[in-house]
Amino acid sequence: MHDTRSVTVHPARNILGSVGVPGDKSISHRYAMLAAVAAGRSRFQNFSPGADCASTLGCVRALGCNVERDDQGAVVIDGLGPQLRSPDAPLGCGNSGSTMRMLSGIVAGQPFTTELIGDESLSRRPMRRIIEPLTRMGAQIHSTEGGCAPLRITGARLHGIEYLVPVASAQVKTSLLFAGLLAEGHTTVTEPMRTRDHGELALRAFGAKVDRVRNTLTIEGGQALHPLEAYIPGDISSAAFFLCAAAVFPESNLVIDGVSLNPTRSALLDVLTAMGGRISMVRVEEQYGELLGTITLVPGAAKPVTIARAQTALLIDELPVLAAIAPYTAGLEVRDAGELRVKESDRLSAVTQNLRAMGAQVEQTDDGWRIPGGQQLHGAEIESFGDHRIAMAFAIAALRAQGDTLIRNSECVAISYPSFFADLERLLER
Ligand code: S3P
Repeated sequence: MHDTRSVTVHPARNILGSVGVPGDKSISHRYAMLAAVAAGRSRFQNFSPGADCASTLGCVRALGCNVERDDQGAVVIDGLGPQLRSPDAPLGCGNSGSTMRMLSGIVAGQPFTTELIGDESLSRRPMRRIIEPLTRMGAQIHSTEGGCAPLRITGARLHGIEYLVPVASAQVKTSLLFAGLLAEGHTTVTEPMRTRDHGELALRAFGAKVDRVRNTLTIEGGQALHPLEAYIPGDISSAAFFLCAAAVFPESNLVIDGVSLNPTRSALLDVLTAMGGRISMVRVEEQYGELLGTITLVPGAAKPVTIARAQTALLIDELPVLAAIAPYTAGLEVRDAGELRVKESDRLSAVTQNLRAMGAQVEQTDDGWRIPGGQQLHGAEIESFGDHRIAMAFAIAALRAQGDTLIRNSECVAISYPSFFADLERLLER
């Protein structure tokens, strides 16, 4: 059976060559949102081409900002300053949790009511984690009984709060810092463990002062932002698919150009090293606190790996692909990853189901997996569950399976990486 939205992945003999990946999704969202509340013209090169960031741009436009691509393909946003315009229709966040949660922090500080809507998957994802603190800051927020979208946010003159975020979530932290920027007084956000720090770096890039003491961040409200011109580094969570593919081919040699090496995002490199690979980095540069460089991976003797606690939080988006290749490694145990159940799909179950379809032995726990190494998988029909990271993770698992694999609903890769299959094809030796 074949439909146009399915892709067949054939086994490969090796991964070889160099590739650049699209601009980082997390940084693109944050720069676009802050550009809206900065007065003047911002310009971003290598802005993420994915549908999620297009949702953010659509929302920024609906809030009154001119958004366009210039002749070099850069995204240009004419920001209005702290006060945006009331949109005439609900803001469509599509599949993007980042758009809904982080933009909520900005619209909570506006003197009008905004409705935020999402697709079926986003409408199932937990929003109380932002509703509760933003309500404490003075916004009025209406959601479904289960605390999900659609969200109707009546903004207000917010006041700063001190808040301990109960779950490790960069989206929640960033949402509250954005709200804090528009609030009176100071806002203090403490995270239970370190998460990606693009929110605080982006605020500083636009000229705001944000202080950090260990896991506590403080922002003073009422700071004016200036516009920003920046180049967005390649997304290491997209590069992760190619790096994991290379990790399981003993003769591979892979170079990734211009990729983000932000230390709160690059834990995958530590895991691949712990598995036995050798990684070298060259041409590391810094822009507005964000690091980028070129990395080379050469695989080595396989060693088993356990990922838990703080490392789980830092690797949250890379866990599906690490699990998908785990049968070909010396084995993997993942703990403390209950958050995977509330991503674009229930990624714990999606990975387990698909690994089993390929003949793998895998034990699923409440908050992770135990996956023995040294297994040979066979091709199968894989369900993406409309989740971009599941589709891409199993395209990688398929490369070392016996026989072909069909990835159903593979078009969802466009959420973060529209040219994924084409870029992968160029790295394969068959
Ligand atoms: C993101 C944070 C993570 C991650 C998501 C992007 C961000 O989500 O899974 O893909 O840009 O802040 P949580 O903050 O919900 O953990």
